[in-house]
Amino acid sequence: MKLLRVWPACLLLLTVVSCSKGPEPKDKALEAKVEKLLSQMTLEEKIGQMNQISSFGNIEDMSVIIKKGEIGSILNEVDPLRVNALQRVAVEESRLGIPLLIARDVIHGFKTIFPIPLGQAASFNPEVAEEGARVAAIEASSVGVRWTFAPMIDIARDPRWGRIAEGCGEDTYLTSVMGAAMVRGFQGDSLSDPTSIAACPKHFVGYGAAEGGRDYNSTFIPERLMRNVYLPPFEAAARAGAATYMTSFNDNDGIPSTGNAFILKEVLRKEWGFDGIVVTDWASATEMISHGFAADPKEAALRSVNAGVDMEMVSYSFVRNLPELIKEGKVKQSTIDDAVRNILRIKFRLGLFDNPYLDEKKPSVLYAESHLAAAKKAAVESAILLKNDNHTLPLTSKVKTVAIVGPLADAPYEQMGTWVFDGEKAHTQTPLHAIREMYGDRVQVIYEPGLAYSRDKNTTNIIKAAAAAARADVVLAFVGEESILSGEAHCLADLNLVGAQSELIAAVAKTGKPVVTVVMAGRPLTIGKEVDLSAAVLYNFHPGTMGGPAIADLLFGAAVPSGKTPVTFPKMVGQIPMYYAHNNTGRPAARTETLIDDIPVEAGQTSLGNTSFYLDAGFDPLFPFGYGLSYTTFEYSNIQLSSATLNKNDVLAVTFDLQNTGTYPATEIVQLYIQDKVGSVTRPVKELKRFTRVALEPGEKKAVTLELPVSELAFYNIDMIKTVEPGDFGLWVAGDSQTGEELVFKVID
Ligand code: BGC
Repeated sequence: MKLLRVWPACLLLLTVVSCSKGPEPKDKALEAKVEKLLSQMTLEEKIGQMNQISSFGNIEDMSVIIKKGEIGSILNEVDPLRVNALQRVAVEESRLGIPLLIARDVIHGFKTIFPIPLGQAASFNPEVAEEGARVAAIEASSVGVRWTFAPMIDIARDPRWGRIAEGCGEDTYLTSVMGAAMVRGFQGDSLSDPTSIAACPKHFVGYGAAEGGRDYNSTFIPERLMRNVYLPPFEAAARAGAATYMTSFNDNDGIPSTGNAFILKEVLRKEWGFDGIVVTDWASATEMISHGFAADPKEAALRSVNAGVDMEMVSYSFVRNLPELIKEGKVKQSTIDDAVRNILRIKFRLGLFDNPYLDEKKPSVLYAESHLAAAKKAAVESAILLKNDNHTLPLTSKVKTVAIVGPLADAPYEQMGTWVFDGEKAHTQTPLHAIREMYGDRVQVIYEPGLAYSRDKNTTNIIKAAAAAARADVVLAFVGEESILSGEAHCLADLNLVGAQSELIAAVAKTGKPVVTVVMAGRPLTIGKEVDLSAAVLYNFHPGTMGGPAIADLLFGAAVPSGKTPVTFPKMVGQIPMYYAHNNTGRPAARTETLIDDIPVEAGQTSLGNTSFYLDAGFDPLFPFGYGLSYTTFEYSNIQLSSATLNKNDVLAVTFDLQNTGTYPATEIVQLYIQDKVGSVTRPVKELKRFTRVALEPGEKKAVTLELPVSELAFYNIDMIKTVEPGDFGLWVAGDSQTGEELVFKVID
């Protein structure tokens, strides 16, 4: 099956902006249908459309309210027979026959589970994201789901936050590209295609900046930072045609997003021209009472609706209070009409009026071969090789016996990761299973997990794992996090390996056998100690259904790692927040600083100098953003700029040669970073502006060109105007955010 559309030419130029199609242009005939229907609706029916409930009880219970037109959308209903039955009530038994919109959190796959979004981001491959979303849409729509609450495109710079797993990491540009690709994948060529599902970029906005990395916590993102860092992925999603948006739980600078008219009306509607549905997060309207932003559900409804929310998820404050609020003149009739227009417009665009029912007899598309193949490819491209001393990987024919240890080697549920409501562990292929199945004729496998699950502190069986290690040529240690340890509300204050996993690694390393540590986790973990003890480290953000075969192929060399870190790996939790695109201090670290163990006793106050670093952790992370090794090596040479002086309307062409200098065919993720040297406000030390994947045979050299319109150097300046400021820029082309020779260019007026 062909999953992807042909890539638009603009993608070859690797630009997000030019390849976006924008909100669907207003279709006059469709708008006329919206107006006609709206004119026939009672106030109660209008308010009913603004009400989303979670599926409950039996069909009869729900039918009562559906018949009365009190519901616009239902979430968490995935039984196709029930979906059809409920839809039949709405279409055939309610007065106006308005179809329901069935929603579900399909975050990284419906049945066929792809790597968690953070893993997909590590592929730096928008095709992976688009294809993953397309597969998810095909599977979910086959049971009646036509709306997903994804992509999650919150910029997250704090790995303590459990929801870092659900997004694309710390970088604005990477998240913009991957998020837009997901929107395209979910929504397909046209929303009206029955395999399309409406996307819902979330959480709008700033949720990832929760103070202390604790979920739901307050954020403080001033407008400039909001516009330069947090909003662009949402704007890219709007340009990709996202049909809906979800408000976030957090209050930013004292204003909960669900009551934030500036964000919802000024930015989303006016600046970006969005004409779809804005839905609250789960009860985020009435949670404004706990925030202290509304006194009661009535005020919560008032503040949400007047701020620009169209639909309320599960907390019923709209249906219960809007009639009175209108009577009192506190909410205008026109506000309600606008909200209902937005809802009906998307229902029409989805083709629900023409085609409300599922074909119950259609053959199942769940876990289709092509879906599993796409999930495997995604898992391969998402894996990051963090260390590979002495060419430990891939395992050669000299390796006759492997000891497989660790609680994640055969944990099908855990490797699926967070936000999996519909994936099944029975369909998930684990590394243990895959290695036995695919490579059992090449190596003898001794399996001794040592620990039963990641948090297991019972060290009794570690001795067995060590004994297995002693009998093997190589140890494959599968460690990490169970899926419950990341995701919503699952934050951690300590990012070391949980349970006795560190002891397990130490015990197997003590045998002197080379240890290959394979991590499966929902976030970057502080694994410096384990990295030191391992000969090789392969990091996988929870890889999903096909994680096992993907990892097996990577370990045995049938596939070559290409993933890069989409987020900085700190050495210690105390370094957080840590991200590559930070601003400079007035006293940047010189990287020759004296660290704690080298400070003389009674050292003089100023004898260490005065620069910005931690005495105990230094300045550098464990692994920087954009980092990842391969089984081969790459050489960048002959990097040239089309011009050293450019006008604001020019396009900078960066050309260079990239050579595979090793012995494996492999793919390098090339990254282009810039620095705006002096601005009307301080600018980040580096910003990713382009990336591309380049596949090379051993010895092969390719000339690569990356094009960057100067207009993409624009940022919100001291006057809060988005502009390119003339001046000097640095530019790097490299395999990660910390290497590469700096080139310079100048932008003139
Ligand atoms: C989450 C959203 C999710 C919603 C519906 C909320 O708790 O924050 O991301 O889409 O629930 O399940």
